[in-house]
Amino acid sequence: MPKRHRHTYKNSLSFLSCGMISVEEVRKQIPLLSEIVYADNAATTLKPKPVLDAMADYMQKCGANVERGSYRLAQQATDLWDGSRKSIAKILLNCRPEEMIFTKSTTEAINIAAASLERPLLDRISGKFSYDAPLVKWQRGDSVVSTVIEHHSNIMPWMRLCAKTGARFVMASPSKEGLLLPEHFEGVVDQQTRVVALQHASNCVGSVHNLKEIIKTIRVLNSKAIICVDGSQAVGHMPVNVKELGCDFYAFSGHKGPLGPQGTGGLYVKSDLLSHMEPLLVGGGAIADVTERDYKLRSDSLSKRFDAGTPNVAGMIGLGKAAEYVGEIGLKEIEERERSLAKSFIDQISGVKGVSIYGPNDMRDRCGVVSFNIEGWRCQDVSLTLDEKWKILTRAGHHCCLPAMRFFGLWDSFGGNVRASFAYYNTEEEVAKITQAIKKIAGG
Ligand code: ALA
Repeated sequence: MPKRHRHTYKNSLSFLSCGMISVEEVRKQIPLLSEIVYADNAATTLKPKPVLDAMADYMQKCGANVERGSYRLAQQATDLWDGSRKSIAKILLNCRPEEMIFTKSTTEAINIAAASLERPLLDRISGKFSYDAPLVKWQRGDSVVSTVIEHHSNIMPWMRLCAKTGARFVMASPSKEGLLLPEHFEGVVDQQTRVVALQHASNCVGSVHNLKEIIKTIRVLNSKAIICVDGSQAVGHMPVNVKELGCDFYAFSGHKGPLGPQGTGGLYVKSDLLSHMEPLLVGGGAIADVTERDYKLRSDSLSKRFDAGTPNVAGMIGLGKAAEYVGEIGLKEIEERERSLAKSFIDQISGVKGVSIYGPNDMRDRCGVVSFNIEGWRCQDVSLTLDEKWKILTRAGHHCCLPAMRFFGLWDSFGGNVRASFAYYNTEEEVAKITQAIKKIAGG
């Protein structure tokens, strides 16, 4: 059996001064929190003032493009840009900046990973403009494995890759509670599996999978399969160490956990893969040389090969600040607080007549995402009522996880589920408000 995470639960008030930045302080830096109960953090988190200030400062006081100019403001912009990449890579993933590509989202990150497995790298290599050997030499019978609980962005790029390469697309199923275990990959991953794409945590039922053990099992089943992790619900919510996990790709979003702006994200790539990966875009910023006949991609920083064109400088500076901000709070503190709020919420709504809660029973296998339904209600109507009557913001629907919703039998009956997803800045008082509102709805 996989080793379980061990956590202790503390009274939520004890967390108010636990992190280096207290909950009260974070709430002051997000004024909107005094007007609404925001519980849709799995879709996007709100952004604290220091993150907004970092972006505004760059735009107002510097504004220059990166990696191009020799004047001082341009150098300053490049320094800020490099500093951000360093903070993001180190704090959020525990990798080196050269191993992390900047992207606009998790979706873009996974699409880049998938595309790189169907195209060989074109570059001037040993004086000749030619193709490098492709990362995967696709053969008849090969497969790509994903799982039923993935969100669409970790399914569709792989389906498309299969359609283009002729590989089989195979899905592993989680437990009834929505937890992936190592044994779920046995009999699914075999010697013909080229890629395994799986999530770290679920946005639709809040499960956190024991990725380290799962990856170990996958490696035993097939030591050569490329493992791509969708970390969109884990990064910024808990410590992530890509080196310890041993994955090949790890995709994440800048705005779903780390309190950064939309339009930011990244992709960790193991160095031996990165040096053979074809960037989706080529152009200014990605090159060492261009002649009338060919080009040579830059190799001073492999991750910067993927920065062709003027990038989202302000966004990434915001994400760099956000990474430092959550790092200062403490990712362990964030993880424990979010789980504690989820536990409290589950404890309070369990037993309310007509309310069903989804996801693992054991809190050690859960994050701050709690989804539920109320008998006799379409999930969208519950969410709308929560907002209209109590200014409580939740998400309802399929959460971009249609296969999962069908697997759990929630699509036809409820149109998906209602999801309350907590961030570090949520409070016990808010949990109590949501509970009261749900009791009123369920009580008719
Ligand atoms: N952004 C999607 C969510 O809300 C995937 O979970």
